[in-house]
Amino acid sequence: MPDCELIVRDGWVAASDGTVRKADIACRNGRIDSIGPSLELTGKTEISARGLVVLPGVIDAQVHFRDPGNTHKEDLASGSRAAVRGGVTSFLEMPNTHPPTINQQELDKKLARAAECSVANYGFFIGATPNNLEHINSAGPVCGIKIFMGSSTGTLLVHSDDDLENIFANGSRLIAVHAEDEERLRARMQSFLGDGKKVDDVAVHSQIRDDQSALIATKRAVRLSKKFNRRLHILHLTSAVEVDYLRDNKTDLITVECTPNHLFLTENDYAHLGSFAQMNPPLRTIRDQQALWEGLKDGTIDFIATDHAPHTKSEKAKAYPESPSGMPGVETSLPMMLTAWKNDQCTLKQLLKWLCWGPAEIYGMTGKGRLEQGFDADFAIVDVNSYKTVRDEDMFTKVSWSQFRGRKLTGWPLWTIVGGKIAFADNKIQEEVRGSPVRYD
Ligand code: DOR
Repeated sequence: MPDCELIVRDGWVAASDGTVRKADIACRNGRIDSIGPSLELTGKTEISARGLVVLPGVIDAQVHFRDPGNTHKEDLASGSRAAVRGGVTSFLEMPNTHPPTINQQELDKKLARAAECSVANYGFFIGATPNNLEHINSAGPVCGIKIFMGSSTGTLLVHSDDDLENIFANGSRLIAVHAEDEERLRARMQSFLGDGKKVDDVAVHSQIRDDQSALIATKRAVRLSKKFNRRLHILHLTSAVEVDYLRDNKTDLITVECTPNHLFLTENDYAHLGSFAQMNPPLRTIRDQQALWEGLKDGTIDFIATDHAPHTKSEKAKAYPESPSGMPGVETSLPMMLTAWKNDQCTLKQLLKWLCWGPAEIYGMTGKGRLEQGFDADFAIVDVNSYKTVRDEDMFTKVSWSQFRGRKLTGWPLWTIVGGKIAFADNKIQEEVRGSPVRYD
């Protein structure tokens, strides 16, 4: 009779402070039972991670898996498979599905669907509307309330002062905001695109949704958080003006994230990606990109999430502004960041904060984000010595494309472990594995 379900032997195990040591990890009942050199235990399954790095599973705290309503783009089955392929063991999914997740009934449907088919662990946001206050405060379990302050994909939108005050003033849950100012977006859309004006360059998207649109909404959300003492999380920060503003105005109640898209792409990339690079908030300048890296390094930005927002190739190929906003990303964030680490753009300690324990702490996820005894046995076993080029045809996301195609990346997982079970190995999903709902402290 083996002592435990799984033992990962001889890997370089990463501690949260960025140090690595050669050790075995034993998993029992979905948790880390012990970590140490040459454990004298037997596992039902044993893996040799010799020469490989063992990291806590990545937590992607912002994904759109389109289920229900747009499952031709992605669904919880395909999205979760793309996640584990990229070393992401837990995701938090956004409410702008069809129908949107704005009450207990819709949340329950998502939870049931995820229990049926998700190979990664899952959590969900509840979406705010101008009149679902009771639902956003009572429905559960949720990781937080999502407010679209400016229109994006889907119909969710809350932008009047009264409606925003009402949400911030009533309740205590974390509020995550998509911070772009609706009034300014509308005015600029009218002036750039109104009266049937023709645009032949998608780069105008970054001018319409300019950094001031983002800054106005970010300032407004910060004011509301301060006025009502309310926990605020600012999603996908994009601009230098916002980093500068938040560096001076962030409080203990405010946290911030940014995406790999804004860390590794700029508006110059429209030239080769066209509308495939279109997202909200949009790509910006090299100066903005530098400011995001600085913000991450000085703690103004707390962590990285992908905003995985898949649209099919044919949808993305439409002429602007018919082309939808959003790019995939859940399966490339870890290799992108490990490649950045290998290129000395960050330390392993920073990477572990930004991708693993940072989001776990901010969303109060129980037992996640660290390789320590008693924590959930979620990890990615990666090879940081070989490089593989990103190719559309290798992607696990249903939409089969990546904005990072052509890049040579290291750090691809050879195994991804979810709750002590092998969910990904030999470049294949282990179809029988299921994730669990994220628990919150
Ligand atoms: O570009 C985006 N796409 N930004 C969002 O806020 C939503 C997302 C989507 O769901 O497509």
